[in-house]
Amino acid sequence: RLRQDEMEQRVWDIKEQLGSRLFIPGHYYQKDEVIQFADATGDSLQLAKVAAENKEAEYIVFCGVHFMAETADILSEPEQTVLLPDRRAGCSMADMADIKQVRTAWNILQDLFGDTMIPLTYVNSTAAIKSFCGEQEGATLTSSNAHRMLTWAFSKKERILFLPDQHLGRNTAYDLGVPLENMAVWDPIQEKLEWDGDLEQVQMILWKGHCSVHEKFTIDNVEEVRAQHPDAHIIVHPECSFDVVQAADENGSTNKIIETIRQAPAGSKWAVGTEMNLVNRLTKEETEKAVFSLNPNMCPCLTMNRIDLPHLLWSLESILEGEPHHIIQVDEETKQWSLTALDRMLTR
Ligand code: 13P
Ligand code: SF4
Repeated sequence: RLRQDEMEQRVWDIKEQLGSRLFIPGHYYQKDEVIQFADATGDSLQLAKVAAENKEAEYIVFCGVHFMAETADILSEPEQTVLLPDRRAGCSMADMADIKQVRTAWNILQDLFGDTMIPLTYVNSTAAIKSFCGEQEGATLTSSNAHRMLTWAFSKKERILFLPDQHLGRNTAYDLGVPLENMAVWDPIQEKLEWDGDLEQVQMILWKGHCSVHEKFTIDNVEEVRAQHPDAHIIVHPECSFDVVQAADENGSTNKIIETIRQAPAGSKWAVGTEMNLVNRLTKEETEKAVFSLNPNMCPCLTMNRIDLPHLLWSLESILEGEPHHIIQVDEETKQWSLTALDRMLTR
């Protein structure tokens, strides 16, 4: 068994040996022991763009979760191979919607609303769901472009089926002026629309999914911070619940949170409602500011954390051995339609 410093040295050596044949994108929520090796870091949108731009690397070792590696495969060239260092690195939110459930929902909802709906899916979803959206004239979105994509979708149809994160859907639509009274929730387990009013009124149909990390931030956390640090700014990710987002001072994508704190004046205080590895990194980097988690018990993303140094090394060694492990490959038909859905986002 190698010690930590030996593993690190081995990863540096392999990176040097493979040179431009290897590309490692890393999401901001990855552990420090992994992110130090990333050739590009970013939020979901930035990493999708980076994956689309890189035409050179033979191997893309994706340090993030499964849906991100799928997106990289969809956007990459046929001769590029995408690897995920640990196949168990999924996303609990993406797991809350599977394609069978989505097709069932769409059929039932079409009986209620006819041809007045357009599906939008957060990139935190399977390739099959992205593909469904592409086929039904819809698109993908991320937390960085959610306002733009909802505005686009409303220019096409009267109502949006928003997958799979109810909070991002609700928070964004509310910002755009859709009242809460016009938002219904689709329960995929009960196969039922939670709604007892006039159907004509429905503008947003929110899939009943959530992020298990961001849902852990509560109104109690906000009140405690307001009481203990009245001078702190509270900034949260829009995957947090509606109440928390409304009670915070600001909300935005991972990238917006980072930029806001980096640009803030020295001496300012920030209570942050997002993933723990990122908050800890900001605390360390922004030494002239006080940066801490909005939830004192902190909120790690357990699946992001499955990508650790031993798994990264194991993945890289498998390339050298000529038998790359955990290849993420989306089938051709799914690829085609999900590319359509992603392109509608990337070109806007
Ligand atoms: P962004 O990276 O788009 O902010 O999304 C956050 C997230 O939960 C990624 O899984
Ligand atoms: Fe999924 Fe939430 Fe983890 Fe992002 S932070 S990968 S949405 S569980």
